[in-house]
Amino acid sequence: MALLKFVLSALVLCTPVLASPLSHRDGDLVAFPPFVHRGILCDLPIPIVQKFLCPRQGTPSLTVNTPLGTAHGAADASDVAIRYSVKYANAQRWQESSVVTSWSLPNGKTDPTALPLACAQDGLSSSAMSEDCLSMILYVPKRVAPNAKLPTLVWVHGGSFHFGSATGPGLDGSNLADATNSIVAVIQYRLGVFGFFAPNGPTNLGVKDAMNALRFLKTVVPSFGGDSNQITIAGQSAGASLIRALLATPSAQSLFKSAILQSDTMDYGMLSTGTKNTLQTFFNQQLPCSASDNACLNGLSTSQIIDAQLNLLGSAFGLDPASTQAEPIRPVVDGTLITTTLTDSTPFPAVSKSILVSTVKDEAGFTIYGGFSGGLDPATYTGFITMTFGNTVAGHLLSNVNYAVPPSDVGNESADVRPLLSQMGTDQVWRCANWQFARSWTQNGGKVYLGEYVVGASYPGNDGVSFCSEPGSVCHQDDIEIVFGTVPNPNAAQAQLTKEMQARYKQFLRTGIPNAPGFANWAPSTTTNVHALTLGGPGEVPAGACEIGFWGGVVPFDYQLFNL
Ligand SMILES: *[C@@H]1O[C@H](CO)[C@@H](O)[C@H](O)[C@H]1NC(C)=O
Repeated sequence: MALLKFVLSALVLCTPVLASPLSHRDGDLVAFPPFVHRGILCDLPIPIVQKFLCPRQGTPSLTVNTPLGTAHGAADASDVAIRYSVKYANAQRWQESSVVTSWSLPNGKTDPTALPLACAQDGLSSSAMSEDCLSMILYVPKRVAPNAKLPTLVWVHGGSFHFGSATGPGLDGSNLADATNSIVAVIQYRLGVFGFFAPNGPTNLGVKDAMNALRFLKTVVPSFGGDSNQITIAGQSAGASLIRALLATPSAQSLFKSAILQSDTMDYGMLSTGTKNTLQTFFNQQLPCSASDNACLNGLSTSQIIDAQLNLLGSAFGLDPASTQAEPIRPVVDGTLITTTLTDSTPFPAVSKSILVSTVKDEAGFTIYGGFSGGLDPATYTGFITMTFGNTVAGHLLSNVNYAVPPSDVGNESADVRPLLSQMGTDQVWRCANWQFARSWTQNGGKVYLGEYVVGASYPGNDGVSFCSEPGSVCHQDDIEIVFGTVPNPNAAQAQLTKEMQARYKQFLRTGIPNAPGFANWAPSTTTNVHALTLGGPGEVPAGACEIGFWGGVVPFDYQLFNL
């Protein structure tokens, strides 16, 4: 699958949407309105009254006492939530992190309106990032009743495990916190080689960082009206892959109740220790230090390490194709922290949690339309599939009604079959792999609610490929602003879907069931019918090539090819 992987790698997950701090908000801070004593009016279920007359019913306020000390927050122009930026863990370079013992602002700041610096990554200026980055932003709804016992939604950003941050576009959690009446915590974890390729140490440091974020939240959320036992972990793209790694980590199970995976690249699987060791050896060779020389390793500059990481990213696929071109840095099934692949390559464990799993209609659209910007004629398409998958598998693909060149287009050099290739990439890397996962999760005791977005909001950066801006296209990442309620100038369909998803998430956070009054029933998957709900349209989505026995059967997923 080298060629398709090549195209996907170059484009799919590397949308260069680097952290763009929510700086526009810094100038918009407003004085917190004077305390309004909770009167009888505030007990009436009248949203406008609650919103404007009863903004502070006890908690939260700009200062909150927690077991770790006083939290200082900042109100913003939205006036529906207060945000608290906080450092949740300390970590020395390439050492395991430890949860903080006192509340402090990120990066040694003293101004509670300051936002955390991103974790070290390529493509950011050195002043925008830090290795001291184990921070999160808590968004606490202002309309919180005393003893509310709010659930918490923890959000993990995407970025192929080597870029992104809690301050990326659209990730302001105020609206989501308000609409779901929950605490939203947008977290960071160590990225790239900093989080996964310690020269002489354990791997999965970034996964352990996320676990420490959850431990920190269990300690502090009660001070903000939260319930420590109602934590749901959610993420998109690599953020969802990190959630999947946590689902595969026995020691993490007690830290959260349920999970939401949006657009997880499940086709890749996690890394095996064999592949990880191959990549580790190469990475260590890029450093001018021996792996046991801590003084030398600690003396390296951040940018020296990022340069070595770029060499690793560029060479990984050649060293071991199981690493994939798209995402060679990812969690490792190390047998100690992560003990199962969560694929059918190893016995699938018994599970019990309720999870919500979604993909978007055109996951591969950015890649395919970006990679073949001038169109794709049927002969080139057929040759491409044959070279990528080999004759036998290509035969299965090209004779499948979902991917076959329509008879009227055969031999027509002007015909453009990019929609077929885009569907194939979407099905392979995301859609059908997620459907297969849903079946396995269900079969082994858990509950899955599976959905597909057919309405989205073009995420910043996706406008680099015009297909993603066309009406009806829903490219990778286009679900993010819908869920957060941060679509700029939403149209009616976007506003409606935001309302629906937030109502569903509100229920899911509390009950593990994403059904809300006024919206269509969302049935859980069964092993024979995954019941994929159309998000933004009526009914359930057709299986297409995700029927049992095609992908994962006659056409293998990558995790099957490489036994991951
Ligand atoms: C070939 O495809 C182009 C683009 O779809 C179309 O306009 C044209 O009519 C087709 N030619 C034939 C002979 O079908």
